[in-house]
Amino acid sequence: MNNFQFKNPTKILFGKNQIENLTNETPKNAKILLLYGGGSIKKNGIYNQVIKALSNFEVIEFGGIPANPEYEVLMDALKIIKKENITFLLAVGGGSVIDGTKFLAAAALYKGEEPWNILKNNERVFKGLPFGTVLTLPATGSEMNSGAVITRKETKEKFAMGGPGLFPQFSILDPQVVASIPQRQIANGLADAFTHVLEQYMTYPVNGLLQDRLAESILQTLIEVAPKIMKDTTDYDAAANFMWSCTLALNGLIQQGVPSDWAIHMIGHELTALYGIDHARTLAIITESHYTLNFEDKKEKLAQYAERVWNVTEGTAEEKAKAGIEKTTAFFQSLGIKTKLSEYTKDYKGTAELISKRFEERGWKGLGEHGKVTPNDVEKIVKMSY
Ligand code: NZQ
Ligand code: ZN
Repeated sequence: MNNFQFKNPTKILFGKNQIENLTNETPKNAKILLLYGGGSIKKNGIYNQVIKALSNFEVIEFGGIPANPEYEVLMDALKIIKKENITFLLAVGGGSVIDGTKFLAAAALYKGEEPWNILKNNERVFKGLPFGTVLTLPATGSEMNSGAVITRKETKEKFAMGGPGLFPQFSILDPQVVASIPQRQIANGLADAFTHVLEQYMTYPVNGLLQDRLAESILQTLIEVAPKIMKDTTDYDAAANFMWSCTLALNGLIQQGVPSDWAIHMIGHELTALYGIDHARTLAIITESHYTLNFEDKKEKLAQYAERVWNVTEGTAEEKAKAGIEKTTAFFQSLGIKTKLSEYTKDYKGTAELISKRFEERGWKGLGEHGKVTPNDVEKIVKMSY
C-alpha cells in the first residue's frame, strides 16, 4: 500500500427532513447567497424547506446555474457576492450547482487577474469563502470533496479545479429529494458514481486489500440498487443507499494508498465541452475503449473485478478480465445509456484528432495510473468509441 495523508472536513447530515438543520449549521449573522439551478427546487418543495430553515437569515438568491456550470453565468454571481458583501454561500442542487459554488468560493477571494486562470492553470485553492450544500441529485460526490469542473462556453473548454480550501463546511443529504429526479438523471448518477469507483480501482494491484474491498462494495451496492431506483424513485431505502454510495465513491476515502487513473474523465470532459453530452454518458462512451486499449496494464484488476463484483467464475484470468469489460458496458446499457459516440452526434468524425491535439497543446502527455497514455493513445481510444 502507498503512503497517504487524508483529511476530509465536511460534516454530513444524512436522512429524512435534515434540511431543517440548516438553521443550526449556517454560521450566525451570515449574509447568504443561495445558489441553485434551472428551477427544479421550486417544483419539488426543496426551495420552500430551505427558505423556511433560513427565515432568520439575510438571504439573496442567484438561480439559473446551468448543467455543466458556465463560467460566464458564474461571473454574474461573483458580482453579487462582491457588491453585497456576501459571507456564506449555500448551494442547493446537483453537481453543477455545487461545483459552480466552489468556483465562486475560490473566485471571491482570488487575488490574481482573471478568475478563469484558476481553471486554466489549475491553481490549487487553499482558501475559499465558506459554503454549505443541500444535495438534490446523487451522482458526483461534489458534496463531500474539494473538486469542481467548470465550462467556458465561448471556447468549448471544460476544466477541473480544486484544493483543500474547497470542501463544503456541511452537506445535507436527504434521500427524499431523489423522488423528483427524472430517470435520465438517475441513470447518470448511477453511471457517474460507478465510474468514479472504477477510476480509483481499475489500475494495478498494490495490496490495498481494504481499499479494493471498499471499492467493490460500492460497485456492488450500486448494481443492487440500480434496478430498484430506476423503477421507483420514491423507494426510500434504495434512494438512501444510492445517495450514500455516490458520496463515498468520490469523497477521497477509497483512493488513499492506491493508484488512480482518471483518463476516462479527462477524455469524457472533452465530449461534454464539444457536444454537450451529459457527463455520465461521456464516461460510458469512453470506458470500454480505454480498458481495451490499456488491457495489459489493467488485466489483473479487471479479472479481480469480474470475479468479485460480477461473480464471473469461468475462464482464464484474461477471459475474466474481458468479461469484466463487457459486464461494465452491459451495466451502462441496462440504465438506458448509449455507449457509442455516434449514437449521440452525427458530427463525430475528427473528434479523436481534435481531442488529441488539445491534450498535446495543453501538455497533457501522459494520462492514467502509469502516466503513459499519450495523446496518440487518446486518439485511438476516442476512435474506438465512435
Ligand atoms: O438545474 P435544475 O433545475 O436544478 O435541474 C437539474 C439539472 O437539470 C436536475 N435536478 C437536480 N436535482 C433534481 C433535479 N431534477 C429534479 N429533482 C431533483 N431533485 O438534474 C439536472 C442535472 O443536474 P446536474 O447538477 O448538472 O447533474 P450532476 O449532479 O450529474 O452534475 C454534473 C456536473 O458535475 C461535474 C460534471 O462534470 C458536471 O458538470 N462533476 C463534478 C465532480 C466533482 N465536483 O467532484 C466529479 C464528476 O466527475 C463530474 O465531473
Ligand atoms: Zn464523474
